[in-house]
Amino acid sequence: MANVLDLLKQAEEARKNPPKIDPDIDVAAEIERLRKEKNAVILAHYYQDPEIQDIADYVGDSLDLSRKAAETDADMIAFCGVRFMGEVAKILSPEKKVVIPDMAAGCSLEESISADDLAAFRREHPDHLVVTYINSSVEVKALSDYVVTSSSAIDIINAIPEGRPILFTPDRHLGSWLEKVTGRKMDLWPGSCIVHDKFSVEELEELKREYPDAKVAVHPESPDSVLALADHVGSTSSIINYVVNSDAKRFIIGTETNIIHQMQKLAPEKQFIPMSSQEGCKCAQCPFMALNTMEKLYLALRDEKPEIVIPEDLRIRALTPLQRMLDISAKARAARAAAE
Ligand code: 13P
Ligand code: SF4
Repeated sequence: MANVLDLLKQAEEARKNPPKIDPDIDVAAEIERLRKEKNAVILAHYYQDPEIQDIADYVGDSLDLSRKAAETDADMIAFCGVRFMGEVAKILSPEKKVVIPDMAAGCSLEESISADDLAAFRREHPDHLVVTYINSSVEVKALSDYVVTSSSAIDIINAIPEGRPILFTPDRHLGSWLEKVTGRKMDLWPGSCIVHDKFSVEELEELKREYPDAKVAVHPESPDSVLALADHVGSTSSIINYVVNSDAKRFIIGTETNIIHQMQKLAPEKQFIPMSSQEGCKCAQCPFMALNTMEKLYLALRDEKPEIVIPEDLRIRALTPLQRMLDISAKARAARAAAE
């Protein structure tokens, strides 16, 4: 697998050579016009460029955006995130046209496991239930019993009947954190995210020495040793909620740096220090998310491509574990709300 800096260089090169567009076009205004004309909804993940987040109809974590994709009455979904997120939108809303700005926007976790790998595991371990992180291909989802996001995973694992062995795939760090939180032992696939895997204890300790009053909020795709030093561990939306609601004034942020855009909007008086971004290093930027630009979003809306297309039998097989996640997490949310 290539490293994050090489991939970021490729993303930067792609940005320096943008697709040919009439220079007189006001790209933001054209996106607005096309969105209305085509009854399109623009969904964006927190890791997208600030200008894409600002033009989107909804910005959210993987679970929020899956829910929005399932609920929307738009005719077209323009999904600004990585490819597997667009695929989830198509699985949940097959009658809608789903376009993404760049088909090359993959994910290192998705690359960590192939459908052949998982099929072989299932043949050798017929008793195992397979719990798959949403950062995976449609084919891998289709071979899984449950799909989870980082914000729904605890509820899903807690809902799985005791006594069955579980394979958690593909993120070993998220899996290991879930084992600790739920007390459920699982077999962990050895995959990792190219961005979060690089966060280190040494770096975090140095930042904590420099900013002793700062609270530390980290995404569970990060190594165990880093999570052990965090004040808060959670999905992108839970990290945002934490920093907004905390009394602290300064935070060290252990996830993709573009998330800080929402934090600054919601809590402008607070200071956010991104991990792995000191001395101009952009190591905490997701090189796949960075492929998306306003120009490519405009072209995706105008040309209605690149379009996500999934064969119907595959879509139906991937829908079952995904729908299980949405149902279990909705039930758990309702139970928590009723208990408040
Ligand atoms: P969230 O589900 O927390 O938004 O995370 C998605 C992701 O890709 C993290 O790297
Ligand atoms: Fe995938 Fe990591 Fe990028 Fe998230 S940050 S989309 S897990 S490569």
